[in-house]
Amino acid sequence: MRKKVTVVGAGNVGASCALWLAAKEIADIVVVDIVEGVPQGKGLDLLQSGPVEGFDCQITGANDYAPTENSDVVVITAGFPRKPGMSRDDLLMANYDIVKNATEQVAKHSPNAILIIVTNPLDAMCWTAKHVSGFPRNRVIGMAGILDTARYRTFLATELGVSVESIQALVLGGHGDTMVPLIRLTSVSGIPLTELLPKERIDAIVDRTRNGGAEIVKYLKTGSAYYAPAASAIEMVESILKDKKKVLPCAAYLEGEYGYNGLFVGVPVKLGASGIEKIYEVQLTSEEKAMLDKSAAAVQDLITVIQQKTAN
Ligand code: APR
Repeated sequence: MRKKVTVVGAGNVGASCALWLAAKEIADIVVVDIVEGVPQGKGLDLLQSGPVEGFDCQITGANDYAPTENSDVVVITAGFPRKPGMSRDDLLMANYDIVKNATEQVAKHSPNAILIIVTNPLDAMCWTAKHVSGFPRNRVIGMAGILDTARYRTFLATELGVSVESIQALVLGGHGDTMVPLIRLTSVSGIPLTELLPKERIDAIVDRTRNGGAEIVKYLKTGSAYYAPAASAIEMVESILKDKKKVLPCAAYLEGEYGYNGLFVGVPVKLGASGIEKIYEVQLTSEEKAMLDKSAAAVQDLITVIQQKTAN
């Protein structure tokens, strides 16, 4: 029997997730959205690309969660994207309501699913999904680090004139301006990056990575990035459903790791059939740890806002 993946939100990110899932023939797909007709129409359109692309997935669009019953993985992309001048944090309370509602439905219809959260502000939305679902931490995972690392790898590959596949890197921390690209651990097929580029070029690329999402929002004007975010989410789904055990930077709920408790922070994890199978604690320099502390504090600030606004 084929695996089943639900994508909540049939907008730019959600539809792109469905496209990657189908193209890689990873699972049968259900796409859910509140707008009537959109998930059905996009689902049918995508299904009809099957004979051309040669995939045999079932693709269903819906406005309710009945067809999502017993999904193996659920990717939550529902919510507002940023507009120019907005930070991801500006989306907080509007997207809190959407992610809360979606998670309640998902937890009811697919109590054993693994949740992958994409909606921003990412780390706070992961916290919301974990809190609302009551799922264990191995089954609530945020997509951020793969995307941030992919942007960093893309910029480095372009600068160095080498394949993106030759760049190994790791971006930790929250999915925001305080993310922490680990320069010390970046290499080009094992050659330390610091031997290949001067400090000011590396710093400029780190800076561009931190603002990688905003750069695209500025171009698009009416929304935010979706191809690379969707590709990143589907790398996670694939590693889980094929039990590949890839080690990838993802937002994980920490219980003491790196000195944080009860917070989602981007860290390297092993993704396999049961979701997060291991959290890796990288030895950080005091400077790197200070940057990660700043990033974690920014995530904590958002959780505090949610707790204050929803208290009573
Ligand atoms: N349930 C299901 N779908 C919903 C709900 C809900 N409660 N509320 C909104 N949606 C749907 C919208 O109808 C829309 O189709 O979510 C979709 C969002 O699509 P876009 O506006 O195209 O936004 P997108 O670019 O896909 O970004 C979605 O992902 O990367 C993040 O920051 C981004 O938070 C944003 C999210």
